[in-house]
Amino acid sequence: MPLPKIVSGPAYSAYESQLEKEVLSGLIPQHIAFIMDGNRRYAKEVLNAPTVEGHRLGKDKLNEVVHWCLELGIHHMTVYAFSTENFKRDPTEIDYIMELMEKSFYEFAEDKDVHSHHVAIKLIGDLELIPENVLKAADYAMERTKDYKDFTLNMAVAYGGRQDIANVVRQIAAKVRDGEIDVDDIDEDMIGSYISTGDIPDPDLILRTSGEMRISNFLLWQMAYSELYFTDVYWPGFRYIDFLRAIRTYQQRKRRYGA
Ligand code: FPP
Repeated sequence: MPLPKIVSGPAYSAYESQLEKEVLSGLIPQHIAFIMDGNRRYAKEVLNAPTVEGHRLGKDKLNEVVHWCLELGIHHMTVYAFSTENFKRDPTEIDYIMELMEKSFYEFAEDKDVHSHHVAIKLIGDLELIPENVLKAADYAMERTKDYKDFTLNMAVAYGGRQDIANVVRQIAAKVRDGEIDVDDIDEDMIGSYISTGDIPDPDLILRTSGEMRISNFLLWQMAYSELYFTDVYWPGFRYIDFLRAIRTYQQRKRRYGA
């Protein structure tokens, strides 16, 4: 239920603490995937500022959300930072986002909470499309966190769900060609083990900000049984209370796996 506008300040934070308590007493999703949408609209409509300001705040929000997840005990996060389709944007905007991405990898690599929680940082996506400086930063973060097993932060860059599946098909086909496996050995578990996020459970919840109700080629294989949650808030404006509401909604839904 949306809060009446009049509720603010202490009443608001009391409501937030109450909601947090409620959420923590329920089933906490193990893996949440985020479609971080609405940076440009936030800049334009809320701040009346240039587009890049939305992206700058979007990067800060990602950092905040990762810390919320660690605090709540959400062990795996996958974030859609840049899709293959996003390469169609203006080159100046792409350069700016890639610079933010580079910074973000270095910052996560040094983050004390990343180390105290044992968060493994990973890059998923088409490495051939990613600029050298971003790959270098990602390698640095991955190398520094490669032995961690408790939490995962997957950064999806130059990522597409169909490309992810096509990649799996290519790898499995090569094994069949080389006589390492038989066609009849191919099953869902095998495909799942080759998919980019195959080392962690599939997302329990996929959350998209900005009011768009689409999946936009994100984690197509992995989302078979994921709960979907869409909120009207733009990504830079996404608050802790919005996040808690999303988790509460997830907890209230009955998860039946088609049974
Ligand atoms: C979504 O808003 C944002 C993107 C497609 C790309 C950039 C993502 C971020 C800056 C989030 C943080 C990630 C890092 C580390 C760079 P949009 O630009 O599609 O906004 P719109 O839907 O209002 O047009």
